[in-house]
Amino acid sequence: MKKSKNNILPNQKEASRRPEHISTVIDPNNVPAFLKSYLEGKLFYIKTFGCQANIRDEEIMAGYLSLAGMTRTEDPKMADLAVINTCAVRENAEDKVFGEIGSFKVNHQRNKEFLLVIAGCVMQEDGVALQLTHTYPWISLIIGTHDVHNLLPLLNNVVKKQQSLINVRSFASEIVENMPSNRLSSFQAFVNISYGCDKYCTYCIVPYTRGRERSRKAIDVINECKKLSDEGYKEICLLGQNVNSYGLDLDDGTNFASLLEEVAKLGMPRVKFLTSYPSQFSDDMIEVMAKYSNIVPWLHFPVQSGSTSCLKRMGRRYTREEYLDKVRKIREKIPNIALTTDIIVGFPGETDEEFEDTLSLCKEVRYSSAFTFIYSARQGTPAAKMEQLDPAIQHERFDRLKAVIEETTAEHSLTMVGKTFDVLVIGPSKKNGEVLTGYADNGKPVNFKGPEYLTGCIVPVKILETHVYALMGELAEDPLILKAKEVAFHMSRDPLLKEYLALDEAIRNDESIKAIANKIVIEKKAMAENFTNSEEHSKHKANYIEALESLKNNPLVSNRNELISLVEERLLAIRDSIR
Ligand code: 5AD
Ligand code: SF4
Repeated sequence: MKKSKNNILPNQKEASRRPEHISTVIDPNNVPAFLKSYLEGKLFYIKTFGCQANIRDEEIMAGYLSLAGMTRTEDPKMADLAVINTCAVRENAEDKVFGEIGSFKVNHQRNKEFLLVIAGCVMQEDGVALQLTHTYPWISLIIGTHDVHNLLPLLNNVVKKQQSLINVRSFASEIVENMPSNRLSSFQAFVNISYGCDKYCTYCIVPYTRGRERSRKAIDVINECKKLSDEGYKEICLLGQNVNSYGLDLDDGTNFASLLEEVAKLGMPRVKFLTSYPSQFSDDMIEVMAKYSNIVPWLHFPVQSGSTSCLKRMGRRYTREEYLDKVRKIREKIPNIALTTDIIVGFPGETDEEFEDTLSLCKEVRYSSAFTFIYSARQGTPAAKMEQLDPAIQHERFDRLKAVIEETTAEHSLTMVGKTFDVLVIGPSKKNGEVLTGYADNGKPVNFKGPEYLTGCIVPVKILETHVYALMGELAEDPLILKAKEVAFHMSRDPLLKEYLALDEAIRNDESIKAIANKIVIEKKAMAENFTNSEEHSKHKANYIEALESLKNNPLVSNRNELISLVEERLLAIRDSIR
């Protein structure tokens, strides 16, 4: 493929610009006809690195490719089109990407129509996209994080002109709604509430790769959640780099506490959110979490460091004491809350005392689990220009921190033994097909023996013992009864079935229908009694037919009859969707 001269290349500095006005754009879901004829019937493969924002982008790109008539394959060798969705947050995540791109040379050699798309955060970094197209000439398209919704028109360009293309805008001034999506799970869903981040922690590349913070309108978020609820989803995770600043850019008084409350009110069995910024985690948030039982008792509360001076260099806008104060307040109102965190060790200039502060904070908070990272310098961020620490010191501290986290994780697990928890079943364990794996509402992984058909159900499990990475338990209810409850759950969620059942209820309570039904019974009885008296018999028969007719013509009854075939179809679909 030749290379296009119309490349759009990113500029990390430009990414910090806040557009004057952010508009909401409704995606028309158009598929260029030429592209459709090129892609229809072919197979696509997607490999995603990194966080939930990238996973959500994967689902959307899969949605677009399906619209174009493609089918997903999990076998990269079979793919006619592959997407590599990259993560820039740490160097080791970036390194994995290069090996992945190299492995698709074979597809290109075997199939000259093969298309390779590189997407995600790494592409937003200065100079990377251009360098990649030189090193790996089989790349067809590079798109940035702001152009996921342009995947099809850009691919159309590539295919039509037979030219590879780079399209990486530095920032976006639009929020796109109505994007198609093939969700990876039929019971757990991610819902974006905002894009980008305004915090500019000095180590973090996200504000440069995903741009300034832009909130979706509350109504769009709520409608998406409502649809997921109607479809029978069990868990929604609201996503933003900093959920607690949600709505501040909308200037209409919307904030995350009120959005969370609206979503909780929809009645989804489990609602959670990622990621919280400690100093912006408001008292209102604590109130809402405490008030709704379907907001899970789990909070991911990244501290990054336990030292006030180190937090200052990190650009985190809270002190150790303020963080601990929030933790105290949260635990006061929600005593059973499980707290998890992110911690960076070996940040530039981290002294022994500062690291000891991190250890002592972890011992004080006693996290139920934590993600620990060795600091990785990211080009273009302020911390990359600070004096870096010796890697040997970083690794030694990392191991010490890990030991403390393992201790508090095990301690938290032990408090769960002997109690029964609701577990959302993810599916059979990879190691042992007879064992199911799932998550308790506090986020802890739980394994137990049970039939595969419970996948996607929320089931009670009694915790028997703890292992290093998971808890072992036993089902506390008959699996067949749990399955029956699952069917009832889906029926109660489906809007069509809801309408049908409401009509049925109205019919049962309608006085005029009751009168007609009575008349039908009476006339039928009279017909039987006058079996030998032909005159009387035909009079009652006429009355009977007239009553039947008026029942059929009653608007409630005729509406219900119109729905019957649709309801039957829907029941079959529910049966098929529940394995
Ligand atoms: N080095 C190491 N860890 C980082 N994180 C973000 N940037 C870096 C970096 N440069 C961690 C933070 C963040 C998590 C998603 O990744 O802890 O919360
Ligand atoms: Fe990165 Fe800080 Fe924003 Fe989190 S809050 S995405 S760590 S800049």
